[in-house]
Amino acid sequence: MSDEGVHENCNGWAARDPSGFLSPYKFSRRAVGTDDVSLDIAFCGVCYADVSWTRNEIGNSTYPLVPGHEITGIVKEVGSNVTRFKIGDQVGIGTYVNSCRECEYCDDGWEVYCKKGAVMTFDGIDADGTVTKGGYSSYIVVHERYCFTIPENLPLELAAPLLCAGITVYTPMIKHNMNQPGKSLGVIGLGGLGHLAVKIGKAFGLNVTVFSTSISKKDEAITLLGADKFVIASDEQQMTVLARSLDFIINTASGNIPFDMYLSLLKVNGVLVLAGVPKEVKFGPGSLIWGTKTIAGALPGGVKHTQEMLDFCAAHKIYPEIEMIPIQYTNEALERLIKKDVKYRFVIDVANSLQ
Ligand SMILES: NC(=O)c1ccc[n+]([C@@H]2O[C@H](COP(=O)([O-])OP(=O)(O)OC[C@H]3O[C@@H](n4cnc5c(N)ncnc54)[C@H](OP(=O)(O)O)[C@@H]3O)[C@@H](O)[C@H]2O)c1
Ligand SMILES: [Zn+2]
Ligand SMILES: [Zn+2]
Repeated sequence: MSDEGVHENCNGWAARDPSGFLSPYKFSRRAVGTDDVSLDIAFCGVCYADVSWTRNEIGNSTYPLVPGHEITGIVKEVGSNVTRFKIGDQVGIGTYVNSCRECEYCDDGWEVYCKKGAVMTFDGIDADGTVTKGGYSSYIVVHERYCFTIPENLPLELAAPLLCAGITVYTPMIKHNMNQPGKSLGVIGLGGLGHLAVKIGKAFGLNVTVFSTSISKKDEAITLLGADKFVIASDEQQMTVLARSLDFIINTASGNIPFDMYLSLLKVNGVLVLAGVPKEVKFGPGSLIWGTKTIAGALPGGVKHTQEMLDFCAAHKIYPEIEMIPIQYTNEALERLIKKDVKYRFVIDVANSLQ
């Protein structure tokens, strides 16, 4: 089905091909159904996924591609069956906008693992058969189940990065019991996901060590984000001192990491979680076997966990560190992500810059 109709009522920015270059793009969104919420987008965070998908790094991108899955805004219309939201509410949308709502995972509140596949916020297949388009756009329509309440004391621009970066690091910490004070956490990579892993880890009472490739992030890692230690990952001597010292490591790097080295830093039964997506996963079997260690994957949480995380961050004032940008700056912002030049999340001021 074509999604470029005559009633192109939504303004956005799209990549047209694997160069990933974004430019203005008009398209139509589906009408608000009985269970849907429509929101005017105020802000959208810039995730490394936006780089990967606009440049077809995963290999199945459909163009034109409108990225963005850290969306906050104000409800402008609700369907007749909608009970959780009303016009004027401040709300958010994360990385998925639909699921089957009847499989065991959906029933258990893990919609992101839906047996039929959760529908991603961009480059997925929407309820009306069109390709989903993300938050680099003026408004969006979503089934109310996949819409979140943004607590009043959480400004919309700061809530946006929590909807992917925040929930993607919060979920594995909860799942692997890393919310117990006194445990030790390693965080690899200090970008959008990484800086929130540090902040959330500190709120859980953990001892947090950052592994970074950027010495320029050292002072802020300690003073601004609250990390206990900062290590330059290529410094073998510093790494060796930390052998068998960590309960849990969360990888948020957007490039390859030396797996054997990081596994050697885990205590017996320690867990290395992959949130960041390396090009390859390569390690010697002995690195897992000696010490019965685990490598695990991570995805954002289900709907229930996402709302819990938003409420937790609001209650503990866990606010992302953001650089606000107009939508016209997104091509540069994506380039800067690739260069690791981010402190620590770009957030697009959609409402004030998108015409
Ligand atoms: N699993 C999921 O569901 C999920 C969800 C969202 C994002 N992701 C993935 O998570 C990763 C991080 O996303 P993000 O939005 O936080 O990205 P980001 O803001 O660009 O931060 C990534 C950080 O990783 C580090 N890094 C970059 N290249 C590296 C390399 N070659 N080797 C080691 N470290 C490197 C840098 O930190 P330093 O300067 O400190 O070294 C960089 O700032 C990406 O791979 C993204 O696709 C996965
Ligand atoms: Zn993301
Ligand atoms: Zn399902």
